[in-house]
Amino acid sequence: MKVAVPKELHDGENRVALVPDAVGKLKKAGIDVVVQSGAGAASSHSDEEYTKVGASIESDVAALWQNADVVVKVSPPHTDSTGRSEIDLLKSGGVLITFLDPLVNFDQNRKLAEKQVTAVSMEMVPRITRAQSMDALSSMANIAGYKAVLIAASHLPKMFPMMMTAAGTISPAKVFVIGAGVAGLQAIATAKRLGAVVSGYDVRPAVREQVESLGGKFVEMELSTGGAEDKGGYAKEMGDEFLRKQRELMTKVVAEHDVVITTAAIPGKKSPVLITADMVKGMPSGAVIIDLAAERGGNCELTQCDKTVVEHGVTIMGPANLPASVPFHASQMYSRNIQTLLLHLVKDGALNLDMEDEITAGCVITTGGEIVHPRIRDLMQLPELVKQGAAATPPAEGSQPSSDNAEGAKQ
Ligand code: NAI
Repeated sequence: MKVAVPKELHDGENRVALVPDAVGKLKKAGIDVVVQSGAGAASSHSDEEYTKVGASIESDVAALWQNADVVVKVSPPHTDSTGRSEIDLLKSGGVLITFLDPLVNFDQNRKLAEKQVTAVSMEMVPRITRAQSMDALSSMANIAGYKAVLIAASHLPKMFPMMMTAAGTISPAKVFVIGAGVAGLQAIATAKRLGAVVSGYDVRPAVREQVESLGGKFVEMELSTGGAEDKGGYAKEMGDEFLRKQRELMTKVVAEHDVVITTAAIPGKKSPVLITADMVKGMPSGAVIIDLAAERGGNCELTQCDKTVVEHGVTIMGPANLPASVPFHASQMYSRNIQTLLLHLVKDGALNLDMEDEITAGCVITTGGEIVHPRIRDLMQLPELVKQGAAATPPAEGSQPSSDNAEGAKQ
């Protein structure tokens, strides 16, 4: 079985789907890796490193895609200015494993189904304990949380740590992290390591202990959060009245901080606005907001995706793809996620989709000419698929965490 690794085409996408370290492990399972020449260059992996461990290098892009049984990528299929998509390069009946954003990219879902492609979405791998090593959303969020703090530190006109110097005492910067999921907890840990005084907040009261164990202070808000957490430990969407009250209580906290990092997301939904323009006005001049939820609308009212905005003396940044700015380690982690998922989906050197398996059913979006994921069919207003024989339909909440779940994935 041949797995192809193309060079990523999206602007600024420096990651590669498989690093050389994965090649030998896949080979043992009967999987040969073919890498497009230069695919690893932006993440510091040369063609020679790949060939040394047994991968082959292909310079002809069309041949790379056409001869592959499985293509593994990082970003969703790229479409160029003439409308030509990477999907056109895939062979009919081929397999594509990558981030697909299938909850939004309906046209792409249709195109993949029409082409009889088996499309596997990395963001839909369920966040269950058994799938932790395949959980690319978590591994990438970890990097984003880390990098967000570094960016904030380099834009703040203050230093993070307290310093007692002959020239006087420097007081530490105050950092507030909203949303203590994977990205938020890493942001708390990183800001703490840099010497800032760190506070964290989340609607899920269960994360208090995790915030505190990283040296952060958990911010209490007098809000009823009884229903904030679903069975799997994820945040539920809160109502408008809750969010209004939350903003009111948060105004004072935000005004006391030099840096605010927001990571509050609800799976599959637009991010809630937690910081209004008025709240920004109340922040100290020179303060920095890093909004990690920018791609889904942002947690700050003034955020513009992938732009830096300065309002009321406050710098607001909404970087959309921070993992790509740490391409060596981001590729290493993503490659491990892809490798584990591939080994999960392949038996005896061939793809073997067991749709009864929670992981497989959760992340396969199209196969056999159909969009098979019930949640996506539902969002696309397609009728329910009729089960054929033993080929069971995946569970309706394929991307949602299940009982044995999420807390483990959030470490
Ligand atoms: P997660 O689901 O683990 O964490 C989100 C946290 O926000 C949860 O703990 C949730 O309870 C909390 N939350 C939700 N609503 C809230 C509210 N109203 N107030 C306070 N907390 C609230 O998600 P993860 O993996 O940590 O990712 C966080 C965000 O970072 C996502 O929006 C993701 O898309 C984004 N991200 C951004 C990247 C970038 O480069 N900009 C890269 C990777 C992830």
